[in-house]
Amino acid sequence: MFGRIAPRYDLLNHLLSGQIDRYWRWRLVREVRPYLRMRGARVADFCCGTGDLALALGRERLRNRPSEGLPLLTTDFCRPMLQRAQQKMHRAGLACMLAEADASRMPLPDSCLDLIAIAYGFRNLANYRSAAREFARLLAPEGCLAILEFSRPTAHVWGGLFEVYFRHVLPRLGNAISGSGGAYSYLQESVRRFPAPEEVCDLLVEAGFARVETRSLTGGVSALYLAYR
Ligand SMILES: C[S@@+](CC[C@H](N)C(=O)[O-])C[C@H]1O[C@@H](n2cnc3c(N)ncnc32)[C@H](O)[C@@H]1O
Repeated sequence: MFGRIAPRYDLLNHLLSGQIDRYWRWRLVREVRPYLRMRGARVADFCCGTGDLALALGRERLRNRPSEGLPLLTTDFCRPMLQRAQQKMHRAGLACMLAEADASRMPLPDSCLDLIAIAYGFRNLANYRSAAREFARLLAPEGCLAILEFSRPTAHVWGGLFEVYFRHVLPRLGNAISGSGGAYSYLQESVRRFPAPEEVCDLLVEAGFARVETRSLTGGVSALYLAYR
């Protein structure tokens, strides 16, 4: 499914969100700046898709540590997505190390990363609890997991408008433009099934994170979770 939508993924992201997706990724980058400024920080973008978050992280890192040689680990389990990420990172002159891998079972040793960032990928993982435990395993002490994920606004009018848009407009437009029968219906369904922010925080604490913070973005359409080891 992700392979089928890869060619039009960027266009649809910006179109369906009215470009607000750029702001959401920028908010994540802003919150994790202390990690991007650290000398020798080992940074990964899991479920990277076409690489927009990796680009934003890479640019911020370059701005702060121009001589930093460590490439960003950029991973996804879908090759067509990864290939697009690779082209975009290359065009931007940013060093990255690409890996085709399942984010919930990374072939990496314990405590090998300082920052794991995931934008709109966590919701797709088969088992949130075991994936969260896997991320806790990969992070070094004081490392940070930053998850950007869709949420559902609860405010009366805004929540109602969002429901109409998300349930009726987005799947139709997305399916038609992407040429994929059901990918954008899946998006709508998967957001509906995804746990509420409080439950996400609980499962991150249960997975071994010492402190978890959330930020509600755009009236609750997206949520940013920051979980610290
Ligand atoms: C909605 S896209 C998000 C892409 C990108 N992070 C962004 O911000 O636009 C979700 C991505 O997660 C990837 N993905 C889903 N499940 C995965 C898994 N178990 N392991 C690795 N990648 C996965 C998909 O291939 C897809 O590229």
